[in-house]
Amino acid sequence: MCGIVGYTGKGEALPVLLGALERLEYRGYDSAGVCVIENKKLFLEKKKGKIRELVRSLLGKKILGKTGIGHTRWATHGEPSERNAHPHTDEREEFAVVHNGIVENFLQLREELQKEGVKFKSDTDTEVIAHLIAKNYEGDLLEAVLKTVKRLRGAFAFAVVTSKEPGRVVGVKEGSPLIVGLGEGENFLASDIPAILPYTKKVVPLNDGEVADLTPEGVSFYDFEGNPTKKEVMLVSWDVVSAQKGGFKHFMLKEIYEQPKVIGDSIRGFLSKETEVDLRNYRRILIIACGTSYHAGLVGKYWIERFVRVPVEVIYASEFRYGDYPVGEGDLVIAISQSGETADTKFSSSMAKERGAKVLALVNVVGSSLDRESDFTLYTHAGPEVGVAATKTFTTQLTVLYLLAISHLKDYEELLKGILEVPRLVEKILNNGEKIKEVAQKYQKFKNFLYLGRYLNYPIALEGALKLKEISYIHAEGYPAGEMKHGPIALIDDKMPVVSIAVKDRVYEKMLSNIEEVLSRKGIVIGVGNEDDEVLKKKSKDFIGVPRAREELYPILTVVPLQLLAYEIANLLGLDVDQPRNLAKTVTVE
Ligand code: F6R
Repeated sequence: MCGIVGYTGKGEALPVLLGALERLEYRGYDSAGVCVIENKKLFLEKKKGKIRELVRSLLGKKILGKTGIGHTRWATHGEPSERNAHPHTDEREEFAVVHNGIVENFLQLREELQKEGVKFKSDTDTEVIAHLIAKNYEGDLLEAVLKTVKRLRGAFAFAVVTSKEPGRVVGVKEGSPLIVGLGEGENFLASDIPAILPYTKKVVPLNDGEVADLTPEGVSFYDFEGNPTKKEVMLVSWDVVSAQKGGFKHFMLKEIYEQPKVIGDSIRGFLSKETEVDLRNYRRILIIACGTSYHAGLVGKYWIERFVRVPVEVIYASEFRYGDYPVGEGDLVIAISQSGETADTKFSSSMAKERGAKVLALVNVVGSSLDRESDFTLYTHAGPEVGVAATKTFTTQLTVLYLLAISHLKDYEELLKGILEVPRLVEKILNNGEKIKEVAQKYQKFKNFLYLGRYLNYPIALEGALKLKEISYIHAEGYPAGEMKHGPIALIDDKMPVVSIAVKDRVYEKMLSNIEEVLSRKGIVIGVGNEDDEVLKKKSKDFIGVPRAREELYPILTVVPLQLLAYEIANLLGLDVDQPRNLAKTVTVE
């Protein structure tokens, strides 16, 4: 995880680095630090906690320098502390490194360096990089970096500067994301595009095994052997405003309210291009993903099996990677990932590709590793998602999966009409935000929640529970309602709110029976159903309505009130909605 940034150019480095770090804070916020080259010396400042702590500690200090690097950390090796905050340096403080990812053989390297007399100042794996670069330096930073990367194992990206060559930043990518931004008389390095958007829209994503050598005048790219590589410049269409809060209290709320627009954008994006992938051509489909993207995959499974009649398995990427799933020629792997950088998803799909399967990536970030490494890509057009809890990227993932599932059907035109209605229906749900706030008021103090659904709304129960636990820290479980009687029903008493999704679909009657089971054990039913459903209203202590739609489209609707409910509860509890504890937006560690 972690966010890294580098700058070299005509301007002052410090404000550029701090601004970029703020936009990367979603990647981790245990500690932050910067290094600026000032009068041929490295100036370092690090703080435990969020970027604002670092900014505070820099107030009143005059740090002038036109080259520097910065870091925001999500701890992997070593507790969150100032000592372990990046940048890390060599013993003479001539080289400074910021790093994202894990150097797997760091213990061995550390012992080796310690035997040579090197004294370590932190518990991090990163520090070995700084010492190795210092050791390998013979007057050329790039050469020293190339020598160093040959010793490192793992998945990482790092940036390095040295007081011996002010004006130069070298960046390395091997498994973790890193992009270069090209400016006029200035150049940038960053873990993600929003970091550098205020300065440039010209971006060059690095591939694994590549190094970028930046000066204010230009950027050169090499492979790990030092051979120049040819790169294409990508023009980013997002603007800075779309990556900011736009009047909402939190990014998450803004992103929830953006859903009608971005679902529409994703439909248009899908329709603007002939689909390369015909799901009917595969004997089996595997969907690999993590977290919320995994839940989108579960819904996708129902759609693909219903419309395409090809068997689908949905597997957590972290389980796929070390399992023995038979995968090979004739299989299609759909790798779903908002960021396109989630380590487990990335490594699992390259493993599947090596074994002969075709890989279709469904990502939000154009130019991300998964986008570049897969055989085919489909995009969600959700724009940048900053809130750590995924919302608009989930509904756009569903939108694209649905379109993919129906794209080769005879009644495609008819089915398409249904999804074209979805943005308007989501808008209608969002107009009911006040009602959801009221429900949140009533239930904010409860310690446990159950979320129940069946069929297409079972994954939505899982997603609703995930949203609540990750931002409000309230224990919540999603369950297939029909499974309740096999155990979890024992949990139900008069202190258990049970969010029950019961829309008019093929399992509606079954859901009503499951709700009866909850009621007869005194559970508190919060019904999520069709707005005109008087039966469900009567059974529910509180009721949240969604409009009528085609049965198969309900998951894109029912999840929206659940996102809002989780948001409102976390907001009422005064929690840090956009940056919940222990989490990071992009998980680039296994
Ligand atoms: C939950 C959430 C995470 C991500 C997961 C996968 O709100 O955001 O569970 O869904 O880390 O991330 P991507 O989709 O970037 O692979």
